[in-house]
Amino acid sequence: MSEGAVNKEERRKFQAIKGTRDLLPPETALWNRGEQTAREVFATFGFGEIRLPIFEPTDLFARAVGGETDIVSKEMYTFEDYDTTELLELIESRRAALTWTDSPILGPPGPLGSGTQAIFSPYTTLVGNVLRLGSDAFQKGKIPRTPENERVLADLKYRLEVFVSSLNSGTLNEKRQFVNSFKGLVAQLKIGESLSLRPEATASVCRAYVEHGMQQLPQPVKLYYMGPMFRRERPQKGRYRQFYQIGAEVLGGSDAPAIDAEVIEMVMTFFDRLELQGVQLDINSIGHSADNCRRGYVEKLKVALENVKDKLGPDSQRRIETNPLRVLDSKLESEQGIIATLPRIADHLCEACATHYSAVKHQLEMRGVIYRENWRLVRGLDYYMRTTFEITAQGLGSQNAVCGGGRYDGLVELLGGPPTKGIGFAIGEDRLILSLQESGKAPAQQGRDVYIAWMGERAHATAIRAAKDLRKAGFSVELPPVEQKFGKALGQADKLGAKYALILGDNEVSEGLWTLKTLADGSQAKYTEPDLLEHLRKQKALSS
Ligand code: HAM
Repeated sequence: MSEGAVNKEERRKFQAIKGTRDLLPPETALWNRGEQTAREVFATFGFGEIRLPIFEPTDLFARAVGGETDIVSKEMYTFEDYDTTELLELIESRRAALTWTDSPILGPPGPLGSGTQAIFSPYTTLVGNVLRLGSDAFQKGKIPRTPENERVLADLKYRLEVFVSSLNSGTLNEKRQFVNSFKGLVAQLKIGESLSLRPEATASVCRAYVEHGMQQLPQPVKLYYMGPMFRRERPQKGRYRQFYQIGAEVLGGSDAPAIDAEVIEMVMTFFDRLELQGVQLDINSIGHSADNCRRGYVEKLKVALENVKDKLGPDSQRRIETNPLRVLDSKLESEQGIIATLPRIADHLCEACATHYSAVKHQLEMRGVIYRENWRLVRGLDYYMRTTFEITAQGLGSQNAVCGGGRYDGLVELLGGPPTKGIGFAIGEDRLILSLQESGKAPAQQGRDVYIAWMGERAHATAIRAAKDLRKAGFSVELPPVEQKFGKALGQADKLGAKYALILGDNEVSEGLWTLKTLADGSQAKYTEPDLLEHLRKQKALSS
């Protein structure tokens, strides 16, 4: 293979990871417009921006979103975070203890003689190292001082003593089983803190609310955020492993139904401003967690589901046990008829939740927000109670939810804060942009206002100054870095979609009259420097 071919091969290895992608111009102009519009609209509702970390302790998401949800149980990008300089020896010895094998030339497993000691004593040294370094780090608080780690270390100590004292007896198989059990234990020793890339941001906003004592501020606190989220889902159109959300949360104060309605009104206003097509708002109330409300309903639902269990697919069958509400989410064609016959939550809400729900609907009507009630809308995160909503839009295929949200009054308390009301939503920005593009809102390739075609050293100096002045006045300018013939320069200007070519040659510079060519019709005129700027300004005002 030639050197060139190797390089090509090497280069090809680097591609965006499956489920992630690069966003390029001109599409990014649409993203910026979306984000800018969100900032403007949300500010008119009194929201301020919060910027959050991209990773947090895994436990935060497990606690908030729910350990049993798909998001937490299957889709998080989780890693162990440790101080490599301080713990290097421990990390190395853990790795060595996990990868050790006895010599492959030992032959078939069978009874062993006194040679066992020679074979397995190196392993006792390795495990001994993990135990010594691990215990020391545990004492000094350099690895998490969890009961789990304490148990692992105690277990290792006990088993190592047993192993060492019986090194000269037993079969090879027994010894290998011992080694495997050591490996299982060593793998359980947590050296670092478990962190995860955020799969969503509501949990982080609540964490920040408590951490910064925001309950001392005038309530409610209204915050919005935008940025990437990470879920290891199966990628398809509108579903990515790194995707972007624009979200908003209202924390503290009361749970007045007008707050629910205003939050929904805000996101609908945003979609309206962007002229998003085919917007459909679905709402529901999933009550609160009590026997006379959602918990009672879920019990009834479970019984009803057990009765039709054999007509359901394997996913729904499993969910009868793990999360019966999620069965209502099923998109399986064959299950739709059965689901239609199941008991509905609206008929089982407690009085307070039912009253809240009808007041939310009334408040939406007062705001002219058009909604559809959808009793099957349960959402896939554990923290919701009462109001839930989802918004779909046109042109998205099966992944058509462009926004999801709801009320989560217990969440801040669950994360160790004071009892706090909360409601919010998150917009899937990738899907928002897709839908806008599908309805023809793609921005044109970003052209230039002026392409400066210059020739000669004196003209170059003038061109640099002209570019500076034009850019200062807000025009986008392309200044070629090297001299080119005017014909070629005009061709380049065309390719870049420039509106004008400013032609600067020796004549123009000595006369102080600059030639401006309008590329759309090929017309040409000469201007002094101040007149040129004035002319361009006027033209820009006319076209905007
Ligand atoms: P969510 O329904 O999981 O809710 O996500 C909200 C939106 O993010 C979805 O409707 C969808 O548009 C977008 N989305 C989710 N996963 C993906 C993906 N893999 N690829 C592309 N887009 C995706 C939440 O995240 C809650 N934190 C919303 C919330 C805020 N509830 C209260 N406050």
